[in-house]
Amino acid sequence: MPLQDEGVMPKIVLFPGDGVGPEVVAEAVKALQAVERAFGDRFAFETLAIGGEALDRYGVPLRPEEIAACRRADAALLGAVGGPKWDRVEPPLRPERGLLQIRQALGLFANLRPVSVMPALVPESPLKPEIVAGVDLLVVRELTGGIYFGKPSRRWTSARGRAAVDTLRYREDEIARVGRLAFGLARARRGRLASVDKSNVLQSSRLWREIMDELSAGYPEVELEHVLVDAMAMHLIKSPARFDVIVTENMFGDILTDEASVLPGSIGVLPSASLSARGGAGEGTRFGLYEPIHGSAPDIAGEGKANPAGTILSAAMLLRWSLGKEEQAAAIERAVASVIADGVRTADLAPRGAAAASTTAFGDEVARRVVSEANG
Ligand code: IPM
Ligand code: MN
Repeated sequence: MPLQDEGVMPKIVLFPGDGVGPEVVAEAVKALQAVERAFGDRFAFETLAIGGEALDRYGVPLRPEEIAACRRADAALLGAVGGPKWDRVEPPLRPERGLLQIRQALGLFANLRPVSVMPALVPESPLKPEIVAGVDLLVVRELTGGIYFGKPSRRWTSARGRAAVDTLRYREDEIARVGRLAFGLARARRGRLASVDKSNVLQSSRLWREIMDELSAGYPEVELEHVLVDAMAMHLIKSPARFDVIVTENMFGDILTDEASVLPGSIGVLPSASLSARGGAGEGTRFGLYEPIHGSAPDIAGEGKANPAGTILSAAMLLRWSLGKEEQAAAIERAVASVIADGVRTADLAPRGAAAASTTAFGDEVARRVVSEANG
């Protein structure tokens, strides 16, 4: 197969980050290198620091240099940030702030969090098999607005004691751009969109609902329903299979996706994509930051116990959304599913009594299958 010309090699920034981040990113890179061998692609990787690692090295959780490198790249892949080591750091310097800054600086307005339950994992879920079988939902979380970024956000002391304020603010264009993306995704899937808000209480939610209703006219193939966030918290546990695409504001999406992560039995298998409006390396693609949903898991860092599946599947999303390489993305997804189905599993998913695979053993097996399937 002809190798790609160096000049057009897609550029991928790697942010291994903290805790188990470096271990899981290493396995995702193996999967991408397996794609290079199997499909003749070539990728240019650049490894940079974010979060606690950047704080230790440079005194800040994210430097302008790293943002600039992302602007020159087609995609970025991140492990995780944060850990007890930095718990006493001042709020503006916390590792998590690096993540919030990169989302805002790069305009990563839409966070896609697909949650599906592979048949092999149905028995691992804490919920009944009949509830989780067939779950295949996609949460689209607004990522650069709402209460995470609204001003004022501060605390003070008055005569009556300590007080604090955060502001949940949205403009219509911020709601409409994530709404259009969600409608488009629903149209390409099963044609159902659930918009989640708290419009019985919040002004920002009433605006959210109004904009979703207005957009709905442009997507006659999509059936839109509005669900209050407290009710959605219940439906996600009682009847998750009835949903297709779910769109919601920043903090509701943060909370609901942690809840949804219990459906497949381990948060370790779930990937995510945070997309911008800027184009990526392929036709119809966008620059994105890809990361597993799980955190830095400092309690198991360095022990080879972390499940790299969520990061490997994030690399598959990167191939699809930023590089336009659907075939390669699907090859990684098939390899991960078959490895798990064959019982090669890290400790979080190993059936009772079965030996757990290490992080690297799982990653090696995925990479091997990506290559052998493509050659078979
Ligand atoms: C997430 C995380 C982040 C968030 C934190 C680490 C800032 O929980 O990506 O879901 O709240 O968005
Ligand atoms: Mn979260």
